[in-house]
Amino acid sequence: MKIFILFLALFPSLLSAEGKSDVSFPNTITKIAFGSCYKGKANSNHDPIFDVAVECKPDLFIFLGDNIYGDTSDMKVLEKKYAILGAHRGFQNIVKNTKVLATWDDHDYGVNDGGKSYSKKVESQKIFLDFFNEPKDSVRHQREGIYTSYSFGKNGKVVQIILLDTRYFRDELPKSKAKKAPGTLNWYQPTTDTSKTLLGKAQWEWLEKQLQVPADVRIIGSSIQMIAHEKGMENWGNVPHERKRFYDLLKKHKAHHTFAISGDVHFAELSKKNLGNYPLYDLTSSGLNRPQKAWANAINPSRVGKASWETNVGLIEIDWQASSLALKVLGPDGNSLIDHPVKFSELEFE
Ligand SMILES: [Fe+2]
Repeated sequence: MKIFILFLALFPSLLSAEGKSDVSFPNTITKIAFGSCYKGKANSNHDPIFDVAVECKPDLFIFLGDNIYGDTSDMKVLEKKYAILGAHRGFQNIVKNTKVLATWDDHDYGVNDGGKSYSKKVESQKIFLDFFNEPKDSVRHQREGIYTSYSFGKNGKVVQIILLDTRYFRDELPKSKAKKAPGTLNWYQPTTDTSKTLLGKAQWEWLEKQLQVPADVRIIGSSIQMIAHEKGMENWGNVPHERKRFYDLLKKHKAHHTFAISGDVHFAELSKKNLGNYPLYDLTSSGLNRPQKAWANAINPSRVGKASWETNVGLIEIDWQASSLALKVLGPDGNSLIDHPVKFSELEFE
């Protein structure tokens, strides 16, 4: 008996082989709104896209990064910019009406296209967690980086949301030296150095366990796009061996009913990558108030339908009875920019 207890003490994961999300809630959810790239201005209180989000009556709103344009190593300035967002009527309306989850991208982390060498990342993490009211006993206060996961619901209606940190551990990206190809931004090129990381060792180990948590719908929240890489902007394709590692983990653990959501690029699009027979989707909503037409015109061979450069907010609707999803993006009048239905049965690994 003593030997058995010692064995469990050494290998605690055996107590619950499948693991669990960092935080769990019992309530069933059906609507998840999300958005990214909001540049606030003091005393500016009206951005219709926030009202569109609230009118959808989502169970959750996920801020997917570039939630402010901090771009500073002066933490007083960073706090001041968060305060501008906090004072915005539209933001307050979201907080009042729905549960808010958040991760960061480069600008709210503190530096444009920034990674692990940002000198104020420890301080910035604390300010981020305080602004989004992270509970004091949360694991996010205890470890490096802001990655985390949530499970909502039970009994065949579990939604797991994995929010990644694509900044805290990321190595320097190689700037593109190639001649600019038509339809590209050509800022970065994929690295061939397989020692370079996007997520870092601890986050990878955690992520692999998270992909084994039982879930009926699993959403990977990545600030940067996962599938589209041809534009030469920041994306998972800058570190192709890590993107392949993620795809391989999905296959290895048969993480059915999984798709990604992303932001960062200042326009909206839906991308699809076939991993064998599994269609992996990445729904990008970016430009809560900062859309960019020129970037929306950049190439993406994985795009499903059209890109849109209106201000936009993402919406995921789950129909538990029909076992289906709708991947949507709405524009500033609540107009439909993207609306793609997916049956759960389509999202099954062999
Ligand atoms: Fe960004």
